Amino acid sequence: MSNTTFLEGNFAPVPDEIDAVELEITGSLPEVLEGRFIRTGPNPIDPDPTNHHWFIGEGMLHGVSLRGGRAQWYRNRWVLGPSAAAHLDRPPVLRSPGGVFPGDGNTNVVHHAGMVLALEELSCPYVIGRDLETLGQTDFGGPLPFGINAHPKFDAVTGEMHVMGYSFAEPYLRYQVISADGLVVHGVDVDVAGPVMVHDMGLTERFAIALDLPVLFDLELAMSGRRLPYRWFDDYTPRVGFIPRGGIHAGAPSPTIWIEIDPCYVFHPLNAYDDGSRVVMDVVRHPTMFREELEGPNDGDPWLERWVFDLDRRSFSSTVIDDAAQEFPRFDERLTGRRHRYGWSAGATVTSLGSTDLEVGGSVFKHDLVAGTTERRELGRGRLGGEFVFVPAGPDAGEGEGWLMSLVNDLPSGTGELVVLDAQDLSDVARVHLPRRIPVGFHGNWIPDSALID
Ligand SMILES: [Fe+2]
Repeated sequence: MSNTTFLEGNFAPVPDEIDAVELEITGSLPEVLEGRFIRTGPNPIDPDPTNHHWFIGEGMLHGVSLRGGRAQWYRNRWVLGPSAAAHLDRPPVLRSPGGVFPGDGNTNVVHHAGMVLALEELSCPYVIGRDLETLGQTDFGGPLPFGINAHPKFDAVTGEMHVMGYSFAEPYLRYQVISADGLVVHGVDVDVAGPVMVHDMGLTERFAIALDLPVLFDLELAMSGRRLPYRWFDDYTPRVGFIPRGGIHAGAPSPTIWIEIDPCYVFHPLNAYDDGSRVVMDVVRHPTMFREELEGPNDGDPWLERWVFDLDRRSFSSTVIDDAAQEFPRFDERLTGRRHRYGWSAGATVTSLGSTDLEVGGSVFKHDLVAGTTERRELGRGRLGGEFVFVPAGPDAGEGEGWLMSLVNDLPSGTGELVVLDAQDLSDVARVHLPRRIPVGFHGNWIPDSALID
């Protein structure tokens, strides 16, 4: 890997914003799908090839609008943070006062309180309009001094958004709750030992879960001008913290319970839940991170594990669920914080995601965590996809009844597709043909029209 790995091949940014309407479909789109699939990722406008990192760069949204079995449009738009606005010579949107940096909205797209939000850790969310235009930035009434992490957790019962914000300056980490109607209602500093990178988090019915793992801000790297000055520290004790929830399900105030684990890094838990005095959390585990490679996550292939914490005994155990290389775990998020049976992940590594080898193909996994089985679906040679997002078939559908959506590139034709699979058996449902390839990106979601406020 080099500084230019993430500017080339399947990662290479696209040069402009385009629109296409009434897209060709192979198969049949479910008519109940009314909304937009929106995914973001870095699409740097003027990158420095001598000092680049995958996580850096102006964010670009790729969206597909579905309605009544039709694919109405595809469009791609930069998130108009100050950097993109300056490069594109467009007026900047109104900034919120929170966050450590303005951010580029290049990491995740979620919805909350009727708004579509483009996220990047260390910054406040950008509010995105129905045509993917950037409307402004929000701090939910504030204060959000560190912004929010890339993966807030949404409690389907309370409607709340639970977030972590982190900074390279003390107090380093802050847990906050944003109410269903979009106001900051709770905040508490978390006593981590250093300036950790906290990409994601866990949530159960009792706890917000903090990952205090050995990837830390490094002042020397920052002083040397490196764009992402975080690296692995062998002497940092890895811990997981169980913080009493704030918001509607808040219990009596009590200290965070910290439990040491063995060294590793986790970008993405799949889900977590309470089990008596224990907490169960399924995670994609990397052996280390930014120890061997600084330009991107490439310290060895990650795998899926179950972690079990005994909060009374302060003990931790881990079991491998599936040792195949995989990332981007998702589940039926109506069960966030509650016991889940199914999960899905992408058979993807940094190397495979960026491949231009027509013999290499991506895959998607379905994990049945009760039966202890994994099914794998190959996407085909020369076909590469990232995260697969679960979309329930309806409000009353059982766990895992619905579809998976992902943006897939077909390398031989040089075009992209929105691929829709049956989430239960991973069979093809529909492929929406997009006018060109979509650069490898990070995260997105299906945003039903019903989730938006006009
Ligand atoms: Fe992520």
